[in-house]
Parts: sequence; C-alpha cells; structure tokens
Amino acid sequence: MLKALLPLALAISAIPAFANPIAARAVPAGFSITSISPSGTGCPPSSVFYVLNAGGTAFSIIFSEFSAEAGPGASAGSDTKTCTLNLGVNIPAGYRFTLEAVDSRAFYHLDSQVKASREFAYSFSGSTGTGTTSSEVSGPLQGDFAHTDAFDDAGPSPCGGSTTLNLVSKISVDNTANTSGMGFVAIDAMDSNAALDTRFRWEAC
Ligand SMILES: *[C@@H]1O[C@H](CO)[C@@H](O)[C@H](O)[C@H]1NC(C)=O
Repeated sequence: MLKALLPLALAISAIPAFANPIAARAVPAGFSITSISPSGTGCPPSSVFYVLNAGGTAFSIIFSEFSAEAGPGASAGSDTKTCTLNLGVNIPAGYRFTLEAVDSRAFYHLDSQVKASREFAYSFSGSTGTGTTSSEVSGPLQGDFAHTDAFDDAGPSPCGGSTTLNLVSKISVDNTANTSGMGFVAIDAMDSNAALDTRFRWEAC
C-alpha cells in the first residue's frame, strides 16, 4: 500500500511550480483518475507518496528511492531503475486525451563525461495510443533541475470509458566514457497537475 494521501493544500505547497509550463487546457466534466499503482525497481510502493487534486483530475507523485548510480563502488545493477505507474482513469463519453508531457524534478551528481538519461513511455489498456520521450545530460553536473519532457509521438486514449494509463519511467547512468568517474541521478517528484498546468491534451472523438 502507498504510505499516505496528502491533503491538497500540503501537496501544492510542497511541490513548486515547474519551469516551461505548457498552456493549460480545460478538463472535461466527468474525467477522473481513480487509482494509482506504482511498481518497479525505482518505486516500490512503500517508497512513493501520491496525491490527487480535489477533482481527481491531476496527480503529483513524490519518490524517495527512484535513483540510479554508476562508478567505482556502485553496486551491480544500480545503473538503471524503472518505475511503472498504472493509473485507473474514467474518460467522459465523447472525449479522448493524449499525454502531452511529464514534469519531473531530478537531482544530479555527474563527474566529467558521465551521462544520465531519463525515458518515459505511456500506453493505454484497450487502445493503440502510445508515446515516448527520452533525454540525456552529461557531466560535470550537480544540483536539482526541473524538466518538462514532451511526448512528440503521442497517441490518444480510447474514446470514453474506463481504462488504465500505463506510464513507465526509466533513469540510468553511464560512466563508460570515464570509468573512474561516478554518477548519480534521482527523480524526486513527478506531476500531472491541472492546478499548476495540465499535461493532458483533450479532444472530442
Ligand atoms: C573522470 O572523472 C574524474 C572524477 O571526477 C575526473 O577527475 C577525471 O578528470 C575524469 N576523466 C575524464 C576523462 O573526464
């Protein structure tokens, strides 16, 4: 089970606005996120806090163990971590959506020539709509950064009805260009928050 549901006011004050917002769009009446189930090496359920907004139309997730590392002393298999979020969604009749972008906040510590990448992919149960996006940064780099990763090949959800949105996140660190260097990346938080900016793109169908 998830640790807790935070009240909305706490969630908003705890999660700063992200840079480069994509223009907000109205959410059609009747849309709601009904459940969020995390699984994977990067997000065992006890390591994740999530909150839905009051209308259940947007979510924020805070991770405490979603980190990857490489370099001298790093344990085997720790260079890549994944997290799958299965979101139950009710889609109003006559509407469908694509996932426009994922906002995330990540901490990096990368030595020279050490790279960290993040990849996101989504799919729906019951439709062929999918999307992927990936980005890479290279050291030297240290600090917290806000990212907006847009899906440029986004496909739509089913038209109306209840379905599951499967969002897979993957982070990895690669030090093959500098095997004496180390790297660490951690995703701290991820949003799809209509109270801040909507990352679902809606259309009639
Ligand atoms: C590899 O990383 C180490 C540790 O930061 C640094 O001292 C060294 O200059 C780096 N080597 C290269 C080729 O960038």
